[in-house]
Amino acid sequence: MDSIITLMNPKIYLAPMAGVTDLSFRLISRSFGAAHCFFEMVDSMSTVYGHPKNSRLLKTHKKDSPIAAQLVGADPKVMLEAAETLISLVEITSLDINSGCPAPKITKKGAGAGLLKDTAKLSKIIKTLVSKLRIPVTVKMRTGYSRRDLSECVRTAKECEASGASTLFIHGRIASQGYSGDIDYEAIRAVKEALKIPVFGSGNIFDHLMAKKMLDETGCDGILVARGALGNPWIFKNIENYLECGKDPKIPTLSEKKKVLKKHLAYIEKYKDIRLSNKAGYMGKVAMTYLKGFPSARRIRDDICRVRSYKELLKLINRVKIKR
Ligand SMILES: Cc1cc2nc3c(=O)[nH]c(=O)nc-3n(C[C@H](O)[C@H](O)[C@H](O)COP(=O)(O)O)c2cc1C
Repeated sequence: MDSIITLMNPKIYLAPMAGVTDLSFRLISRSFGAAHCFFEMVDSMSTVYGHPKNSRLLKTHKKDSPIAAQLVGADPKVMLEAAETLISLVEITSLDINSGCPAPKITKKGAGAGLLKDTAKLSKIIKTLVSKLRIPVTVKMRTGYSRRDLSECVRTAKECEASGASTLFIHGRIASQGYSGDIDYEAIRAVKEALKIPVFGSGNIFDHLMAKKMLDETGCDGILVARGALGNPWIFKNIENYLECGKDPKIPTLSEKKKVLKKHLAYIEKYKDIRLSNKAGYMGKVAMTYLKGFPSARRIRDDICRVRSYKELLKLINRVKIKR
């Protein structure tokens, strides 16, 4: 019980996930207790040139607050111009620098996790933004690029802090691990102990127990819930309740899941600006994340993935029953 009491009030945020954490996902997550969210990552160059995709990525709502934005890029001047553009378009609490994306099309330009290979550049970007922006600048990084090196990881984190970053989000994997493999709690702990600014841990937070493990093992100030929130917005309240009073969560029933899924789909129908044909496919994917594990859903999985309209999908969801 002691450790539960000492862990009261860590911050529980929804992590940025490109292609996933759109307005509908954020609204659902917030309704279950996500304290803070991020817009999906935006590219600095596209922001400066006003790419039409950005207005879709930056779609928001008065209930979608507080919210941060995350920029990916490698040129300090372009990053600054992009940040200023973002601030003029949307109300954000802070600006995050993506220093963790492992996608080759990003890292080959020196951006995302590529910045971990050129920490002087990362530091320059932070300093440039901090000197000109009136909102806090944060960094989301990995524990390394292609090899585990604890002292290098701590050095990079300290450089971010010394350059003016106000919070560090750290995904406990090196970039070459992608999204699989164990979480390096030791590295996150070493960073937390070396820094004065808040440190958030990220990685494998799939339920309340994994959340507690991250907090216990690293001593971090907050956590980012990422894939654990897919089809499972309950995770935010479950973590909060468990940390507050050690209560094991109630597993949502199929009908509770269907109710929240329908709300999520209604948000997509209302807010997602994509072609109608793509929209139905997108909704189908979201539906499968909620229905995963129900045998009757498995049977109509192909139908769900092929739906051509919102209405058709609702009919299919109603067909998912508890009996096997
Ligand atoms: C589909 C997907 C998209 C992601 N997009 C971003 C992103 O745009 N920016 C970012 O900093 N991290 C991104 N991440 C990383 C997550 O924020 C998180 O750090 C990572 O998934 C580890 O947490 P998990 O193991 O609990 O999922 C993404 C992860 C996934 C699975």
